[in-house]
Amino acid sequence: MAESVSEEVLVGPASQLATGDHARASTRTLLERPQMRVVLIDLQAGQELPPHRPDCDLVLAVLDGMGQLLAGEELRPVRAGDLAVVRAGVPRGLRCLEGRLVALGVVTPPPGSEDHRPLEDGSGWPKEPEVQDPVRVIHEEHVHLLEGIAELSRLAQAAPVLEARELGAALAATVGFLRTELLPHARGEELLVYPAVELLLRAGGGATSSMALDHRRIQDLTEDLARSAEVPAATLDRAAAQRQLQALSAVVTLHFDKEEEDYLPRLRQLGSRERGALVAALRGEAGVPDAG
Ligand SMILES: [Fe+2]
Ligand SMILES: [Fe+2]
Repeated sequence: MAESVSEEVLVGPASQLATGDHARASTRTLLERPQMRVVLIDLQAGQELPPHRPDCDLVLAVLDGMGQLLAGEELRPVRAGDLAVVRAGVPRGLRCLEGRLVALGVVTPPPGSEDHRPLEDGSGWPKEPEVQDPVRVIHEEHVHLLEGIAELSRLAQAAPVLEARELGAALAATVGFLRTELLPHARGEELLVYPAVELLLRAGGGATSSMALDHRRIQDLTEDLARSAEVPAATLDRAAAQRQLQALSAVVTLHFDKEEEDYLPRLRQLGSRERGALVAALRGEAGVPDAG
């Protein structure tokens, strides 16, 4: 089971210190003493330490990624930052369903070969109960809200020709929709959905992927505008060009707001060498210093 016993000083990201070959579940022994063993567990998607019931206490700290821990009869999701204590004699197992899972395990006393025997009574991984998919629930809300949003864009197109009283009533109805439906939806997401997503992003990375999605949207809108611009002047679709310009302006403005208010100020938390390396790379300078 053990990959190697290290005697030198080890410092670095846990995911790099866990040097398994990734072909099978890896457990690298970092420290072995008569009273305890400290191991770095590295599981790729589909890999597991099968359920077993050793006569050892276990303290497990998840350092990277996410997975599932069987402790006793209960299957629990575990993610980077989670800590678990499983007493001797309690069945336990660890598995990674997607991405990678790196965890530190302190086992006392050090387990023998008997301790890793699979459970004899055939009780392996319990089945997870079927529940409703939250993605679908939120998606259905979005589909409903988008009907109201489509109305917004129709109103924007019609605004120049609508009679003032009619326009005023339509604007009031729009404000009503935004206040009673869209904004409560947004508040619900901040309260319930974003904290859950944040936990998963912390474990799996990709916190900035939504910003890259904005870039793709901006690129697509640019292509749409290019197609509008390429046609002969006589067949130019003014309304379409107007929509594309408004969409580009809205998306880019919101995107810059997010970068300026949320992302860029965080760069000041980088170390000075990292900041220097980033600036040099941004300027395309050669001899970028090592960001370490
Ligand atoms: Fe939403
Ligand atoms: Fe950007």
